[in-house]
Amino acid sequence: MRILSGIQPSGALHLGNYFGMMRPAIELQEQGEAFYFIADYHSMTSVFDAEQRRKNTLDVALDFLACGLDPKRCVFFKQSDVPEHTELSWLLTTLTPMGLLERCHSYKDKLARGLSPNHGLFAYPVLMAADILIYDSNLVPVGKDQKQHIEVTRDVAAKFNQLYGECFVIPEPQIRDEVAVVPGIDGQKMSKSYGNTIEIFGEEKPLKKRIMSLVMDSRGLDEPKPDADKNIAVQLLKLVADPSVAKECEESLRAGGYGYGTLKKALFENYWEYFREQRQKRAELADNIDYVHQVLREGAEKARDVARPVLKRARIASGLE
Ligand code: ADP
Ligand code: TRP
Repeated sequence: MRILSGIQPSGALHLGNYFGMMRPAIELQEQGEAFYFIADYHSMTSVFDAEQRRKNTLDVALDFLACGLDPKRCVFFKQSDVPEHTELSWLLTTLTPMGLLERCHSYKDKLARGLSPNHGLFAYPVLMAADILIYDSNLVPVGKDQKQHIEVTRDVAAKFNQLYGECFVIPEPQIRDEVAVVPGIDGQKMSKSYGNTIEIFGEEKPLKKRIMSLVMDSRGLDEPKPDADKNIAVQLLKLVADPSVAKECEESLRAGGYGYGTLKKALFENYWEYFREQRQKRAELADNIDYVHQVLREGAEKARDVARPVLKRARIASGLE
């Protein structure tokens, strides 16, 4: 089974990225042939600072490796080191109905937030389809927000197969219900673009401050909170704490007499402990950047060995060769 996923270097990675995509991806590297990449071409639709992109790309590599991605068990690379993605993207673009892209939520959300759209942002799902199809991927672990993009991929692949003959494997998304949407500090989906994230790695003091600033309601300390399971801090605590600890906090909140401050403090402590080992590993990797570059270089070579023949297959099928 071939597994593939990507993540954009568009800002510091956060708990939503970790629980929604990175941890499932890391677990899946044991179960098949996994390809994971840093989607730097995709980041060009929203990040317009070259130095920022370079820094973010290296940060994503460090974060992912520190969190347990093992370059011996998977192929880890940078998207733009495999330029075959962009050629396949063109082949697919010609078969993608405008309406399909116009209906994409992620595009519509960005428009609604006042982002002035470039053509790359509109065509983003087609490049993503190329990323997936060029490795004959079977399974794509992602958070729920990416589901529609996988559906576009499936549609476009089926259309190509129908028109030019069987060429592409039709992929399946893998979305874990319990972490499909990790909430941010304001209760909306945690996202780099909403400024509501809790980073995986960062300085202790500002992170603590951020967690203590989680938005809660105005009910008094003594009041019972029968809806404790909807509380953002409780939801996040369930991700980072031992189930018995999370349950105890939730029940205390339900019963009343348990303050939001204490809850947030418990969240911070458990979160800080959860990533302790990874934090140390990241510091070690940061002292050995040459190794990180070498991992990405070797990953790109392995990825290209798989991507080239698939692209050739598509070129022949469509009459380019
Ligand atoms: P962001 O919205 O912060 O820019 P990305 O779009 O780069 O995040 O997402 C990278 C991966 O992390 C995707 O698979 C996405 O589904 C997942 N992901 C991002 N935010 C969340 C979240 N809040 N809950 C669950 N998964 C998420
Ligand atoms: N669009 C994804 C995101 O923003 C990143 C991505 C690009 C991706 N290409 C991919 C994810 C291919 C899975 C498969 O999160």
